[in-house]
Amino acid sequence: DYVFCAEKPLAGLKVLVTAGATSEPIDPVRFISNRSSGKMGVAAARKAQSLGAEVTLVAGSVSVNLDGLNVVKVQTALEMLEAVKKEIESTDILVMAAAVADFRIAEYSDTKIKKTDENEMTIRLVKNPDILKEIAPLKKAGQVFAGFAAESDNLAANARKKLNEKNLDMIAANDISRSDIGFGTDENELTVFFRDREAVNTGKVPKEKAAETILLLAKEVHGKKNG
Ligand code: CTP
Ligand code: CA
Repeated sequence: DYVFCAEKPLAGLKVLVTAGATSEPIDPVRFISNRSSGKMGVAAARKAQSLGAEVTLVAGSVSVNLDGLNVVKVQTALEMLEAVKKEIESTDILVMAAAVADFRIAEYSDTKIKKTDENEMTIRLVKNPDILKEIAPLKKAGQVFAGFAAESDNLAANARKKLNEKNLDMIAANDISRSDIGFGTDENELTVFFRDREAVNTGKVPKEKAAETILLLAKEVHGKKNG
């Protein structure tokens, strides 16, 4: 009924969220990763659940509690790609909040790398696949794909470029040059760009609130696509 729908606007929808940092192993004791805490993505997963969606969270390294969520844990970008590929077919709304490592170590060492008498060492990196670009060809007409963009400069231009190149319906851009929002903090201010509507700014709000705004916007886009 109407009241039920108003309280649970995502009821009947499957939402796939990715969150946290991928980490790319160098040897059994070392890895490279990034500063993502996973707070924004996990907030999106929890909010989607409370708005009535059936939620799967593909989580890399996160520093927040995942109790009560349906979680697929992954370590590397390649593992995250496989997990997303597996889930994407049955997904209505994808929220790609993970901070995917752009590169991985070219040659993983299965024994601990020892220091030598050399004062320098070089680790060669190779590019990881872009998960959003990999799944773009699998996208069905009714699906909504939302990405994030972490930008230190030229936020709007860079975000719009990613929106187009990754064939997204919307992208939430983060200004990572600001220390009061973003990495590890509890608040965020996002500007959401769309293909054919005006950008929306969330204001500086708790990550839960920013997540709600993104999800309700995604629901609107989903409604338009699905009549
Ligand atoms: N992303 C992805 N696969 C990658 C890298 C990023 O799917 N290998 C996704 C992120 O989850 C995010 C969006 O692409 O939703 C933008 O990520 P971002 O790091 O801001 O952009 P990149 O395309 O990686 O470009 P750059 O880091 O050079 O700005
Ligand atoms: Ca990147």
